[in-house]
Amino acid sequence: MPEKEPIGVIGVGWVGLCTAACFAELGHEVVARDILPDKVESLARGEVPIHEPGLSELVRKNAERLHFTTSMDEVLERTRLLFCCVDTPPTYSGDADLSRVERVIEELAGSTDHAIVMKSTVPVGTGRSIRRRHEGLGYVSNPEFLKEGTAVKDFMHPDRVVIGAEPGAEAFAERVAALYEPLGAPVVRTDVASAEMIKLASNAFLATKISFINEIANVSEELGADVTEVARGMGLDDRIGDKFLRAGIGFGGSCFPKDVSALKQLAGNSGYHFQLLTAVIEVNELQKRRTVGKLKKHLGSLVGREIALLGIAFKPDTDDVREATSLVLAARLQGEGANVRVYDPVAAGNDSGMLGGARDCATALDALDGAHGAVLVTEWPEFAELDWAGEVRERMAESAVVVDGRNFLDREALRDAGFDYEGIGR
Ligand code: UDX
Repeated sequence: MPEKEPIGVIGVGWVGLCTAACFAELGHEVVARDILPDKVESLARGEVPIHEPGLSELVRKNAERLHFTTSMDEVLERTRLLFCCVDTPPTYSGDADLSRVERVIEELAGSTDHAIVMKSTVPVGTGRSIRRRHEGLGYVSNPEFLKEGTAVKDFMHPDRVVIGAEPGAEAFAERVAALYEPLGAPVVRTDVASAEMIKLASNAFLATKISFINEIANVSEELGADVTEVARGMGLDDRIGDKFLRAGIGFGGSCFPKDVSALKQLAGNSGYHFQLLTAVIEVNELQKRRTVGKLKKHLGSLVGREIALLGIAFKPDTDDVREATSLVLAARLQGEGANVRVYDPVAAGNDSGMLGGARDCATALDALDGAHGAVLVTEWPEFAELDWAGEVRERMAESAVVVDGRNFLDREALRDAGFDYEGIGR
């Protein structure tokens, strides 16, 4: 059996660590480099600083094949395919900050038998510009489509693998394709710019689907339809599909908001006004404003009102609060003069002060104690298991309102228990 190609991973954050651990699981020697010595040491001890189901087990199980280092020389010596997984955060203008990518490219400059395999999300045209400035450097675009909370499964069972390469880099593209062969997924072999666009367009389309169903939800509220029923009927059409048709109080996370803005910005920089994405962003903000409106509909002025936010994370099964709806809601509600309490089973304390004066509570019941209103922000299973008709009813204030921001709770049960219930589009 041919020797498995050793793999280099540059940048051991969420994407880098998932990539490193999964390739090690597939039997490859992996040399993973990060610039933070503390992180490298703790990873080398098998300590995984990220809340991602199944990841720490995979890192420990494959410790023999996983080598963490701060030394780029070690990576260059032992591997030829280097997966670039550094982050590309948005700048104030909405453009992607490529400074970390450029630093990695500089460290490889001049090499002809190494290839950069770009997994970081980069603007369309990045690969072309790097190749123009670093002739001879192998360059392959290989975007990731991992979702937080299911990243290991998403890596091992991808819907597709996208590999973008220009003439002259075919051999490297072949070697990258061979790495994914054991996964048996469709492989999209294309040019670099199209591969880069597949990533951004896929995220932007999913965000558009969410904003569309959120607008259907808003209209359904006016017309008396139930968006969950509408989504069920729509989703059976395989041209539409039932995934990402869950109406709610807005998408968040480190990808959708950033990638939608980056694509809109990219289009703008090239002179094209991407109207649809402008609306996608506006609808996402509108969902948060409507949530405050629903509380005020029942409570009137929110000055001095106790409001509980159930969930801080941008979605369940993660401790990530980046661009989370909870942050905007907490700020808006405090701006309305409300006293905000928050509870999250995993993400508490990760907001680095972005929740303002909101009070962090140890349990959901603590957050609900004496509250005039509650908003279900993140659909953690434990919130559906609360004793709404019993203990919660006793603890919350008289005639309390519950805004179910994810249509996650039992509407009838809450209404029977005497709550003013507000869903999203139902
Ligand atoms: C996303 C993409 O799914 C993934 O392919 C890409 O690689 C990274 O970005 P992630 O950010 O982890 O993954 O979250 P995802 O599960 O896609 O959810 C994004 C947001 O959309 C969350 O805030 C979620 O609550 C919201 N959402 C999702 C909805 O409001 N409705 C839905 O039907 C699905």
